[in-house]
Amino acid sequence: MCGIVGYIGSNRAVPYLLEGLEKLEYRGYDSAGIATVEDGALRILKTKGRVSSLEALIASQHRSLATLGIGHTRWATHGKPNDVNAHPHESANGRFCVVHNGVIENYLPLKADLQAEGYVFRSETDTEVIAHLLEKNFDGDFVSTVRKTTAMLEGAYALCVLCRDFPDRIVCTRWGSPLVLGRCAEGSFIASDISALLAHTNDIFYLDGNEIALVTADGISFFDKNGAPTQKQSRRLELNISAAQKDGYDHFMLKEIMEQPKAVGDTIRGRITKEGKIAFEDFHLTDEEVQRLSRITVVACGSAYHAGAVGKYVIESLARLPVEIDIASEFRYRDPVLDDRTLVVLISQSGETADTLAALRLANERGAKTLCIVNVVSSSIANEGGSVIYTHAGPEIAVATTKAYAAQVSVLYLLAGYLAEKKGLLTGDAFAGYVRDLLALPDLIQKTLDSCRGQMEAFSQMFIPLEHAYFIGRSLDYACAMEASLKLKEISYIHSEAYAAGELKHGTISLIEKGTLVVALCACSAVFPKTLSNIKEVKARGARVLAVATNAENAALSEVDYKVLLPDVNPLFSVSLEVLPMQLLGYYTAKNRGCDIDKPRNLAKSVTVE
Ligand code: F6R
Repeated sequence: MCGIVGYIGSNRAVPYLLEGLEKLEYRGYDSAGIATVEDGALRILKTKGRVSSLEALIASQHRSLATLGIGHTRWATHGKPNDVNAHPHESANGRFCVVHNGVIENYLPLKADLQAEGYVFRSETDTEVIAHLLEKNFDGDFVSTVRKTTAMLEGAYALCVLCRDFPDRIVCTRWGSPLVLGRCAEGSFIASDISALLAHTNDIFYLDGNEIALVTADGISFFDKNGAPTQKQSRRLELNISAAQKDGYDHFMLKEIMEQPKAVGDTIRGRITKEGKIAFEDFHLTDEEVQRLSRITVVACGSAYHAGAVGKYVIESLARLPVEIDIASEFRYRDPVLDDRTLVVLISQSGETADTLAALRLANERGAKTLCIVNVVSSSIANEGGSVIYTHAGPEIAVATTKAYAAQVSVLYLLAGYLAEKKGLLTGDAFAGYVRDLLALPDLIQKTLDSCRGQMEAFSQMFIPLEHAYFIGRSLDYACAMEASLKLKEISYIHSEAYAAGELKHGTISLIEKGTLVVALCACSAVFPKTLSNIKEVKARGARVLAVATNAENAALSEVDYKVLLPDVNPLFSVSLEVLPMQLLGYYTAKNRGCDIDKPRNLAKSVTVE
């Protein structure tokens, strides 16, 4: 949601800004703009629509020679997506302009005060108050002016500011929304995430909350919220530019689906010690605290919540701790009962999801132990969690998550094994067997992808004309059904529902008629016979059934219309294989319906507003 870029260096800024904005397109946006400082004045160009429209607008103007500039892709929250509401926003006297990611919650009283003082607003955005406050607070010192301004803001923001009086610097800061910086021979770069920097540098500075960066062509200085200089080390990322490129695939989503063996392998392997134990670098619960835990609450949104549903089954089954799962936007407003014997597990790919972040803060305030499972290093959720386990999925660019979900599920398997071992419930050969099965997962994932890719492309033909589809399953298969249904609907725009198979006859079965397509997930051996009965029920009402099961159940599936067979796997890990044909089904259906797969309508990759 919203993307920010900035460049200052020895080369022309505009090509870098456009390249960076293109890299951030995946975050979701509906307008784009840039600003430069030229001949002592700010020059702003912005437009509704895609970065390609901005590029056309820029090409129609005189060629900019500026060597510094900022850029933005806006996902509309306050005010329609149009040229006026697009960023950058300028102060009335043209001294400052700003790009902003986040929401200023107190913008209405600030706006009223500014209007009473005679400031005239041009846009409907919350961001414009920042531009006018910069003008009002200007004291001749760029950093101090930004600091005074952010002290008046409530909400979330990542800001990049230009001032025409200082044509040799950019000032940026953040609170609750991400911002990263990088340096190389070409100059200094700023962006909302690393995908816009990787083409130039792997040495990344992660800006802390309320920290301010003064960025010039020759270097970057950092200041704390009181204006005192701080020392900051860059982190070297072991990633290359291919992490942010399609590498020959038609879409990022397909590339990321095919990257799952690596994402799962990278997530699991580093956590298994030479002695065959499970260990986490940043897990701060003592063995005694683990023994004292009375329950776990998993809180997340969307697919991360679906990963949590898998974790519930596996943790309860192995570690015998009650696990609740909660949608973050519900959890934060339901006055949850928490204490220091509750472990709240927050799951988030981006580490910036507003509701998950708010849920984490609530859990911290109420004295619960918190553990965050996050993909983006140094993101807000990672920084504020009591403990952190990173999923090593690498940058995920497609809006619909695949490899990050797979890595989240893998961390939950690790966590379940870790807790069960600490509680003395999984020991000796049983524990060693569990670890062996975990380490075998990447190969099984590869095998499944190889065997079902072509099959799912063919099956997707049946889904193309559909208006509705149903996904059913029990236990772990139900957790997978929720994710399968979301994958189909979010990118192909076919309405679909996930139902716990045993719940069908309490109402929903009335929707099943001749020809209805039902996907029956039945890889979970413990409930296979029960799901088979539900398959028979829908078949008896005329449904066509596509079943997904392990090889071991092949013979029992004689009545289904279509089937996908998976390699035999530890039943606790079945979702890691079962979800793969479902991701491919969503992908190929959307592709054959001509949908914009990597950027589905109305969706943003990182949901930084509630
Ligand atoms: C669906 C999807 C979303 C995210 C959700 C949470 O494919 O990607 O449902 O899972 O928005 O995002 P994170 O994990 O960044 O908190």
